[in-house]
Amino acid sequence: MPTALITGATAGIGAAFVDALAARGYDLVLVARDGDRLRRQAPAGAEVLAADLASDAGCALVEARCAQGLDLLVNNAGMGMRSAFEHATAEQEEQLLRLNVRAVLRLTHAALAPMLARGSGAILNVSSVAGFSPGVRGATYSASKAWVTNFSESLDLQYRDRGVRCVAVCPGFTHTEFHARADIDMSKLPAKLWLTSEQVVAEAFKDLDRGRSVSIAGLQYKAIVAATRVLPPSLRRRASRIARSTLKSH
Ligand SMILES: NC(=O)c1ccc[n+]([C@@H]2O[C@H](COP(=O)([O-])OP(=O)(O)OC[C@H]3O[C@@H](n4cnc5c(N)ncnc54)[C@H](OP(=O)(O)O)[C@@H]3O)[C@@H](O)[C@H]2O)c1
Repeated sequence: MPTALITGATAGIGAAFVDALAARGYDLVLVARDGDRLRRQAPAGAEVLAADLASDAGCALVEARCAQGLDLLVNNAGMGMRSAFEHATAEQEEQLLRLNVRAVLRLTHAALAPMLARGSGAILNVSSVAGFSPGVRGATYSASKAWVTNFSESLDLQYRDRGVRCVAVCPGFTHTEFHARADIDMSKLPAKLWLTSEQVVAEAFKDLDRGRSVSIAGLQYKAIVAATRVLPPSLRRRASRIARSTLKSH
């Protein structure tokens, strides 16, 4: 049986990855901080690792498991923040980077060596459409996701010929626990901008199979990202300012 490790496995997009991979017959290794919830929700036979990936010790525990060999690594756990950069503490901003960037780097590094030695494997890094343009709320979140997307595309470019694939999974607004955890009020977001976790995960597997290194679910987000990629920087900034005032007025 192939083995997959999923971080942030108890809620939202991570939980949808768990369901999809269980249905595909993978042996599962599931990671989140809340060990009771992990054990309660884990499919029979799944291995659970309760770990805070923003901490050195928690991340090291999961790295050690990645280094034992996996067929698929899903770096999904991530956090957002409601505060403007000036109102959050530097420690809060750093905490976000430790989870959204450092843990992705370290788990990928640990998982990659055995995948390359075997000549096969895949890494799905959950990024965000927010990484394609300047942040409309916090600055560190969108910057962290720009890093995840570029990092994933670079790995895919460099290791695909050696049998290891990497995809940046870039969701738009998705119904999960993410916004409630960050205390972000999304009640006024137009319904057509919402995705489901299942949509994001199904598109990620389709894009992995199609050989793409960036996965964007939903026609609305494919159009937005295509536009931001061709707009000159001045128009991209103007579009971000409009998005910012639209979200603020909601
Ligand atoms: N929802 C959206 O609109 C959206 C849009 C674009 C991108 N994304 C990205 O999608 C990914 C998944 O987000 P989601 O929306 O599914 O979030 P979610 O519903 O809040 O789920 C987060 C998961 O990550 C775990 N987690 C949180 N902090 C952790 C930590 N420090 N160490 C280990 N596990 C941790 C949580 O469990 P515990 O609390 O028990 O640790 C939970 O299982 C994130 O990378 C996010 O940036 C989400």
